[in-house]
Amino acid sequence: MKRLTDVFGCGEELSLLGVGVGEGPHEFQILKSLQSHYSSICNVAVDPNEGMLQTFKGRVATLNFDDKSSCHWFTGPLSQFVAESPLAGNKFNLISSIHSLYYTGDFETTFTQLASMMKDKGLMIIVCKNGR
Ligand SMILES: C[S@@+](CC[C@H](N)C(=O)[O-])C[C@H]1O[C@@H](n2cnc3c(N)ncnc32)[C@H](O)[C@@H]1O
Repeated sequence: MKRLTDVFGCGEELSLLGVGVGEGPHEFQILKSLQSHYSSICNVAVDPNEGMLQTFKGRVATLNFDDKSSCHWFTGPLSQFVAESPLAGNKFNLISSIHSLYYTGDFETTFTQLASMMKDKGLMIIVCKNGR
């Protein structure tokens, strides 16, 4: 959180792209922390599993974001999000991909795509497990 708040002022909108969020256990915690620092948050979540996204949506609904914040849910793989969603043209302060890069195809291509969607001095959280 300090890495973000040191760089991005609390007065600006903080945008988060979650790739392969599933039910969003990690992104939910991140959003909860961000909420106490930023009054305006734009949360974009991408996952092909509709049921999992619905669960994440339910969790996020408990956070009671105010009118300045927005959530966008994209049901589909990252490749489809990149090809079809206008939101893929946005630049994000924070991008997370937690145990999901294994499924998005070529690692280098995915990483390059995600890096191009990051704001200058943005933060990327990628979690991968050895041996998968
Ligand atoms: C192991 S789960 C991890 C879920 C979540 N990040 C977590 O840590 O609990 C992998 C997730 O990647 C999603 N996924 C699979 N293929 C994907 C793709 N091509 N693009 C984006 N997400 C994908 C799955 O639907 C699933 O929710």
